[in-house]
Amino acid sequence: MTCLSLSTEDRSRLLSAALEAVKRAYAPYSQFKVGAAVLTKKGNLFAGCNVENASYGLTICAERVAIGSAVAAEGEEMEIHAIAVVNQQKVPCSPCGACRQVIFEFGVDALVIFQGRESFTEMPAAELLPDGFRL
Ligand code: THU
Repeated sequence: MTCLSLSTEDRSRLLSAALEAVKRAYAPYSQFKVGAAVLTKKGNLFAGCNVENASYGLTICAERVAIGSAVAAEGEEMEIHAIAVVNQQKVPCSPCGACRQVIFEFGVDALVIFQGRESFTEMPAAELLPDGFRL
């Protein structure tokens, strides 16, 4: 485990990127628009939004879209420093189980920021997914 600290400036960059991305969400089936942003350990920022499909199970969550963009840009060395998730309704929404596993893959010590009951909640990926799967 390394440092989980995030500067106030990075936290606000991350949240702004996620809030911009939520505007681009494609969620005609659930109407639940989600935005995410990843700050990599290299210091780059990548955003994502949920992309739904008429074949519902093919839907991709915002977190995995953002992580996919980060890997596409930085390659297999990509590591997540922090990831933020927001939704347009501003209701509590923590990453789903599949996204927790994908976050874990690229950042056991990543800081995960999501809408909690009253305000944004922050916790390390390994706490969100205890005993995450590894090969
Ligand atoms: N969704 C996300 O994008 N991220 C989450 O953390 C939770 C759920 C999306 C998937 C689907 O498009 C919609 O929210 C409703 O489940």
